[in-house]
Amino acid sequence: MQTEQKNTRLRLLNTHCPELEISTEKAVLESHGCDWTRFRTPDPTAVVFPRSVQDVTRLVAVAAKHRIPLVPSGGRTGLSGGAVAPAGEVVVSFDRMRRIIDFNAVDRTLTVEPGVVTQAIQEYARQKNLYYPVSFASEGSSQIGGNIATNAGGIRVLRYGLTRDQVVGLKIVDGRGELIECNSGLVKNASGYDLRHLFIGSEGTLGLIVEATLRLVDPPEPSRVMLLAVNSLEGMMTVFRQFNDALTLTAFEFLSGAAMFFVRAGHDLPEPMDTEAPYYALLEFDCADPDLEDLALQRFEYCLEEGFVLDGVISQSEAQAADLWRYREGISEAITRYTPYKNDLSVRISKIPDYLHDLDQLAQSRYPEYEVLWYGHFGDGNLHMNILKPEDMPVDEFEKACARVNPDVFELTRAHHGSISAEHGIGLLKQNYLSYTRSDTDIERMRGIKAVFDPVNIMNPGKLLG
Ligand code: MLT
Ligand code: ZN
Repeated sequence: MQTEQKNTRLRLLNTHCPELEISTEKAVLESHGCDWTRFRTPDPTAVVFPRSVQDVTRLVAVAAKHRIPLVPSGGRTGLSGGAVAPAGEVVVSFDRMRRIIDFNAVDRTLTVEPGVVTQAIQEYARQKNLYYPVSFASEGSSQIGGNIATNAGGIRVLRYGLTRDQVVGLKIVDGRGELIECNSGLVKNASGYDLRHLFIGSEGTLGLIVEATLRLVDPPEPSRVMLLAVNSLEGMMTVFRQFNDALTLTAFEFLSGAAMFFVRAGHDLPEPMDTEAPYYALLEFDCADPDLEDLALQRFEYCLEEGFVLDGVISQSEAQAADLWRYREGISEAITRYTPYKNDLSVRISKIPDYLHDLDQLAQSRYPEYEVLWYGHFGDGNLHMNILKPEDMPVDEFEKACARVNPDVFELTRAHHGSISAEHGIGLLKQNYLSYTRSDTDIERMRGIKAVFDPVNIMNPGKLLG
């Protein structure tokens, strides 16, 4: 973007928001102008750091009046480019809004500012002998505002649901600079459209989240983690059913043999067991008494005898459980250096084997020269397809090559009534494919909703709806 236009934006901010902390330092622009995706170059005008709701409302009012595009920025761990500022936007960082505002022991709720890190919420809940159940690999740096804006999922969705299911109150500053209060922490509220759910998962395209009230739940039962070597995808479904029917699962994750290879290499992890397999299941289940462990072992024996499972290990301590989780949670970080092209797909759980079988065949025929890794949240139907970039291939050439196959991947997803984005959002990288999951009329309706809350299109423009 032209320097002159950036300077005008900056002058307007300095004049009308004199109290606002504004940075134009190169390192800050680069770090805060992007997320974990590496397919677009950040080029923001400035990064601003509001400290209060008033700072945000003033900023948005100025931005709306002068048509300054805003990009909300949390922990920047997104994987679809939703927090990338490629075109002179002003990045709104919530790094200075990290207060825990209120804990209510009777309501079992926690009210927080948007910049609070997910792990800090989990730890605060634990101190109160309660539990915030949304958990994923980047929880040490992701912020709750970003979690809500993308409706983050993670590893325990099959038991506790998504971020959406934990939010009982929201305050938003919409694209007109108006403060909107949604649901006030109520459990029941049958007073019409629940606007809260429009903002959750809206990727910052309707407004900026300035406060959230989260419900906390009972602390989890003691648990065990099992890592199983599985013979096939059909076998994986049988294993899932065997364990899910008998026990209370808190997670049922899977990874392919190739994903196991890369996570071990990336983190220097030992072989988890003697046997290698095409797939691995990682499951976690409530285990408050020894009978439940016996039951799990019976199911394991059955799967072993029938040939679905080839080998397995079970944790006997929290430390061992954490070690087993590393084989699944460490994958994303281990493959970052290969600039993976990510597709984040979902189908109904019952359809996973057929769908994944078809997809894998497609990947083998259309990406024969690339390494394709599969892993994900089998227990909620969410599959992560990761194509690794060959070292000597330029990023844009690689992206184009992957994009050429996308229509076939997404057509298959449509045929299986799935979604082209399960938990990573649409952002910048997937917006050309939205129509594989949403009808034209749906997209028109979404545009209509955006126009209500953001009539001059300053809220994360160019994301989600394009
Ligand atoms: C995961 O499940 O590990 C995350 O969604 C991150 C990723 O897909 O790489
Ligand atoms: Zn995931």
